[in-house]
Amino acid sequence: MHTREALLRDAAQIHDLIASYSGDGTLLPRTLPEICENIRDFVVTEDAGRIIGCGALHLYGPHLAEVRSIAVLPQSKGNGAGRQLIDALLEQASRQEVTCVCLFTRIPDFFARMGFTVAAREEIPDKLYKDCHRCPRQNNCDEVAMVRGELPQFAILQPPASQFVKLQW
Ligand SMILES: CC(C)(COP(=O)(O)OP(=O)(O)OC[C@H]1O[C@@H](n2cnc3c(N)ncnc32)[C@H](O)[C@@H]1OP(=O)(O)O)[C@@H](O)C(=O)NCCC(=O)NCCS
Repeated sequence: MHTREALLRDAAQIHDLIASYSGDGTLLPRTLPEICENIRDFVVTEDAGRIIGCGALHLYGPHLAEVRSIAVLPQSKGNGAGRQLIDALLEQASRQEVTCVCLFTRIPDFFARMGFTVAAREEIPDKLYKDCHRCPRQNNCDEVAMVRGELPQFAILQPPASQFVKLQW
């Protein structure tokens, strides 16, 4: 089992893996064109020539990156693939000299093992401006915000003027 940067030829398997966890809302769905366009964000874990796990790191700027789309095949869980994926994404963040890595999750205990701590959503405004304002669950979100590193001191994105007033946490 080893973890490496994803290539375009992995996109279909990444898509299927994420789709297998998005039907029940565990993961946000990602379309195949979106995965291809952002393939350089992804890492994959391969075992015997098959992709058994994937994850992505979205870069906002030097102050913030976000871990997204972490998934391991059900039959491959519990063997360290999830940790390898997080380690690879944190290594990328470190290489880019990003000072804070964030994520939103319903399994904070897993990410706490990887060094993440719980944060308030308002402390990661770029994430709110990018995704939360258009999420149907924006006012009854059941995900926990977590960070690793220094909290961002600024946002690089602008609040979406018309929708941001609706955000109430
Ligand atoms: C979460 C997930 C990626 C973990 O993958 P995995 O390959 O089973 O994880 P690992 O085997 O690397 O586990 C690493 C550690 O985390 C622990 N762990 C695994 N899943 C956990 C969970 N759901 N909650 C708490 N701890 C967990 C393991 O016991 C292990 O602990 P250890 O280092 O003390 O032995 C996998 O269960 C998954 O794909 N879940 C569905 C998709 C999902 O929920 N993604 C996250 C969305 S934010």
